Amino acid sequence: MKIFLDTANLDQIKEAASWGIIDGITTNPTLVSRENMPFDQLIKQICKIVPGPVSVESVSTKADEIIKESRKLAQLADNVVIKIPITTEGLKAISVLSEEGIRVNTTLIFSPNQALLAAKAGARFVSPFVGRLDDISHDGMELVDQIVTIFNNYGFETEVIVASIRHPLHVIEAALLGADIATLPFDPLVKMVHHPLTDIGIDRFLKDWDKVKGR
Ligand code: E4P
Repeated sequence: MKIFLDTANLDQIKEAASWGIIDGITTNPTLVSRENMPFDQLIKQICKIVPGPVSVESVSTKADEIIKESRKLAQLADNVVIKIPITTEGLKAISVLSEEGIRVNTTLIFSPNQALLAAKAGARFVSPFVGRLDDISHDGMELVDQIVTIFNNYGFETEVIVASIRHPLHVIEAALLGADIATLPFDPLVKMVHHPLTDIGIDRFLKDWDKVKGR
């Protein structure tokens, strides 16, 4: 399973990348707005730190504008993937850009039909937002299950990025369902590493080792 970091913060990206477990990055306009750096410069730096796919979101709403903006964004670095929200205009753009070899991550997916159409249009990735569904009392993971099943039924190569992850349990559930990728903020990623019994174990071993050292 691939792990992407869902942030535009360079410190977090550098730190997580140094652990050797980051396969890609997802950003969105909200995440980018939190960083005090010119947009192009920020994306280029992220793309240098992480050689895997780096999703950068198009903010245009008409197909021809999405296409124009995406072509420009794709020139920022070889590993840029264009994030396009699922709309009819988005589908038009996805099919054109995919034909040109520009990889698209279709975002704001909240139904299996949206994922199916994005895959048919040629999207390289789809991003179901599990946390935002859970927030309104819908089962986000049920959506992931449905998309994974549909893609397997028909042999779609489109990869499923489980997005809007809120806690480590989301990652376990996504992995059990066979989702290709989980993209998560830094905080739940750190939580994935920790376990209280590991901390207690390290503490005990270090105290016992102190006794050995004195001999
Ligand atoms: C995914 O690509 C999005 O950037 C992200 O996961 C959205 O998460 P949120 O619902 O926590 O904003």
